Order: sequence, then C-alpha cells, then structure tokens
Amino acid sequence: MLRNVTCGELRISDINKDVTLCGWVQGVRDKGSLVWIDLRDRYGITQITLETEKLPAALCEQAKKLGREFVIQVKGKVAERYSKTDKIETGGIEIIPAEIKVLNEAITPPFTIEDDTDGGDELRMKYRYLDLRRTLVRKNLELRHRLAIETRNYLDKQNFLEVETPVLIKSTPEGARDFVVPSRMHAGQFYALPQSPQTFKQLLMVSGFDRYYQLVKCFRDEDLRADRQPEFTQIDCEMSFVEQEDILQTFEGLVRHLFKSVKGIDIPALSRMTYGDAMKYYGNDKPDIRFEMKFVELNDVVKGKDFKVFNDAELVVGICAKGAAEYTRKQLDELTDFVKRPQIGATGLVYARYNTDGTIKSSVDKFYNEEDLKKWATAFNAQPGDLLLILAGAEEKTRKALSELRLEMGNRLGLRDKNTFACHWVIDFPLLEWNDGDPNLLASLAGRWHAKHHPFTSPKPEDIELLKTNPGAVRANAYDMVINGVEIGGGSIRIFSKDLQAQMFDILGFTKEEAQKQFGFLMNAFEYGAPPHGGLAFGFDRLCSLFGGSDSIRDFIAFPKNNAGRDVMIDSPSEIHDEQLRELSIDVRKSVSG
Ligand code: AMO
Repeated sequence: MLRNVTCGELRISDINKDVTLCGWVQGVRDKGSLVWIDLRDRYGITQITLETEKLPAALCEQAKKLGREFVIQVKGKVAERYSKTDKIETGGIEIIPAEIKVLNEAITPPFTIEDDTDGGDELRMKYRYLDLRRTLVRKNLELRHRLAIETRNYLDKQNFLEVETPVLIKSTPEGARDFVVPSRMHAGQFYALPQSPQTFKQLLMVSGFDRYYQLVKCFRDEDLRADRQPEFTQIDCEMSFVEQEDILQTFEGLVRHLFKSVKGIDIPALSRMTYGDAMKYYGNDKPDIRFEMKFVELNDVVKGKDFKVFNDAELVVGICAKGAAEYTRKQLDELTDFVKRPQIGATGLVYARYNTDGTIKSSVDKFYNEEDLKKWATAFNAQPGDLLLILAGAEEKTRKALSELRLEMGNRLGLRDKNTFACHWVIDFPLLEWNDGDPNLLASLAGRWHAKHHPFTSPKPEDIELLKTNPGAVRANAYDMVINGVEIGGGSIRIFSKDLQAQMFDILGFTKEEAQKQFGFLMNAFEYGAPPHGGLAFGFDRLCSLFGGSDSIRDFIAFPKNNAGRDVMIDSPSEIHDEQLRELSIDVRKSVSG
C-alpha cells in the first residue's frame, strides 16, 4: 500500500505516530511562516502543516507549489493542532511532514471541489468524475450502497434468491417505449432492452424459484423528469403461492427494515387507501399524506346562484388551508397565477378567507352572501383563521389541478418536511385505462384499452365478469407503495392461467397471432404448471433520493443522464461509423430521411 492511514481516521490518540497518507490537494494556504495543505480522500480531510522555519526549505518550497487536485503522498508525524476545529473529524490533529511526493499533477479543475461548489449543473455533469470527489455527492453514493446491502440482507433472510435476467431481450410492454439494439448477426432484427424483467421473473416462478429478487437496470424511452431516468434501477421481486396480503406484508417489512437499519427510524404500519379514494380526496394516485388538506366537493353547496363558472362546472372542489386566512392579496394572486400556468391548466381560483373575527370574505362576494359562505365553511369543517381555495371545471382536469395546488400549499405552509416520512399503500387500481393518445406510447396504441399496470396483472376475481361488459370498471389486484407523495414501488398479483392471459391480450387489442408471436413463450409456460404468483418492484433510485432528502434521483446515480437523456460526459447518444451501420444492415440515409 502507498499509505498506511486514510485522511479521515487520525485522532488525538494517534499523536506522535509516523504515518503515510495519500490523497488530493484540496487547497494550499501560504502565510509565509506557515503553510497548510488540506489533503482529501474518500474518508475525510487531514491538515498538513509546515512551519517554514523548522522544516527544510526545499520541502516548504515544494509544498507551496502544489496545485489544487494534485495527487500526493505525505510521510510525517501526527501532532496536536494548536487551533483545533470540530468542523472536521480530524480537527484535533495535523501532520508535520518529513517528505512529500507528487504522484500525479492536475490541471485546474473547472469548478471547486467543495460542498458549496461554483460549478453549474451541466458543467458538473460533464466532469462528473470530479463532481463525485465532492463529499456531498460521495455521501449519496455511500447511502445507495448501504440501502443495497440492507435490501439484500433482508431479502436473503426471507429466502429470496438473487437471479440475473438478460439485458438483450424482446419488447415487454410496461407503458413506455423500448430502447432497441440492432442485431448484426440477424439482419433487420432487434433486441429490446428490458423495461423491467417482468416476464422473466414470472418464468422463474414457473421454474419453481419461489422467491426471486434482483437489483436490476431497467430502460425506458419516456419523457424525463426529476424522478425519471432513461436507465434506472429496480429492486425487482416476485413470490409464488401468495396472495396480495402476503406481498404487502413482506415488502412493508423490507421498507421498515431499511428505515430502521439505515436511518434509525421506526415507521408505523403502513395505512392503505383505495385508488378511488386517492383520486377523490387527493386528485392523485400517489397522495402525499404527510398532511391532510383533503378535497371537499362543493357541487351541492355552491350551485344555483348567479355565478356561471360554478353553475356550468362539472365539478366544484376545494381545499381548506389551515391558518392561511391572513394570506395577502399578493400571495393569493401568486396562487391564482400558479393554477393558471399551462402545466396546471385551471381557468381561475376562487378563495374565501374565514377571518379570525368570524367574518368570511370571498373573491366572489358579488354572488355569495355571508350566509352562503358560512355553508361553505361548514362543508370544509373550517375554523376561523382558515383559507378556502376552490377550483371548478371538468372533473378530471380540476382534480389534477387541485392536487397540484394542494402540494403547493403543503410546501408553502411547511407541511412537507423532508425528515418526516409518511408511507402507505394505494390498492385496487383499475385494471385498464382508455388510451386516447398518450404521448409516451406508440401512436398505433391510441384508441384502445391500455393496461394501467401491465398486461400480466390479474383482475380482482369478483370483477372478472365485467371484463366482457365494462372493462373500465374492472379493478386489479395491483398496489403501489407511496412515500411522501412519490411512487416508490408498484406491483400486482399476476394472471397465471393461459386463457385469462389470452383474454387480456384480446381486450388490449392484440390479435391471437400477435399475442402468440410476442408472448407465446409466457402463455405456453403457463401450460406447464404455473403457480399462483405476484410481486412488485421498487424504484431503487427513488428510494435513495427519498432517504437522502432530495427530489432528484440524479444525485444518487454515479453517472446519470441529463434532462434531455444525454450523458454529456461521454457525449452519448452519438453517431456511429457508416461501417458499423452497414454491418448492422441499417441504411443511415434511409433512416434519417424516413
Ligand atoms: P413499474 O413500472 O411501476 O412496475 O416500476 C416500478 C418502480 O420503478 C420506478 N420507476 C422509475 N424510476 C426511475 N426512472 C424511471 N423512468 C422509472 N420508471 C419506473 C418507480 C416504480 O414504482 N414490472 C413492474 C413491477 C411489478 O409488477 O412487479 C414494474 O416495472 O418507483
């Protein structure tokens, strides 16, 4: 080893020891008679101190000339620091060097390698290997490592086997477009990268593996957001001979184990909410239940006056923001602007202040008198001091918009503390949804039923009859785990009968031949003794960012893509040589011109 201690481990008890350290020069401060070097490695920072009058001139000159991020080896003695600091763990000691060896020089980095760096997002991504030297970013990856280890510990104890599934597969529809890889040996044919190992894990159940898991890369060509990457990692799991309740218990256990072992937090048993209630009370299938502020429907209370907006609306619905009656006109205008943004799409916002003196004043006083407004307050169960915020319009759009407003109010009122964790299950999802042109799906799939979770999800046995008459009303044995308003995981009990699976493909608009061609392998496997089975997958990057208190999963991925799906460090995606294209039987000019 070129070192016998790290930059994070020396303490007062090590004084007088002869040590050798290696690391990067964080900075050199030259005060004439004293020169300090901050030496950094993965474990911390150690100060090297040179009193120029006491040490050889050549050594001091060499120290002064060291540049930022030089890689050096220092041999010296541990000494007690004159002015100690508790800002770093080695703040009680310093090293008096006997020898400094430059192992490698470095050019000046494009941004400072500090927690509070001067580098912008794009620059740090371009030089991600330097960004990863920053303690903050390194800690995120350490957290990721810890979560992976504890996940494996828990699942191993529960008898789960980690089995690797292939990356070059054929398309599995999970609700996004596939990334595809052209085959050289089979001209004109393509592999698809897995959107998840869904079909393979089901086949493993047919094989009798019983309890499977895998920390696995998944690939989806979809619109990107802070919590979505084109390649991401799942904790993917499947179990045989289970019902929904067994799965919920097992994976609730995993999440509780992770909170306890990684954060030292005991989380209470997870509550459950049906999809129907989630939409009704929160306008959202992944409600943040760190705070109440449930939706209150007002059609019966507000209609029948001269206010056309409410009279004409399919739905009038609102929330009660506790203690916000004193919001200024400016704050209320901000909220109105917020809901009118194109992404939210509301036409306006009606508000009523329930003042602490008991009076109620609304933005629609022209149409509603004090007595009417008291009825509103009763409907909301509001108290003096509360602010009522109301939207009106087409049902689905209005619920969505109010959901955004609710989250915004949660933020503004400080109700979404990152160190508070509210975990729950959303259950009883609809099996199908009508696709009227979802931009994340192929255009050819528009105008037909689409599996809300995926086509292998089992309908609730009591709803199977409805498949023929009213497919939209069929509920699935599907569930999502939601933490602080983020969909952390989701899964379902699977169809394990060939006939039911064939019926499902039929409803999804596949001909018998198409279904056989694409999923014959699975339906055939179901004829060889498929056990009842089910499972789920957690978004591992999302879990890491939640534990780390960040909204962006990028911070927890060593080499992420930017919002445009590019890796700006290696400059990918990029063009390939004509020769490679020819070998892959791809005519570039034809494909570019369409
Ligand atoms: P689903 O599609 O719900 O289910 O995915 C499971 C979880 O993966 C995470 N996730 C993502 N994370 C980052 N970037 C993305 N683009 C992304 N897409 C999804 C989410 C989500 O809850 N095969 C099924 C699971 C099953 O049925 O067992 C599946 O993949 O946290």
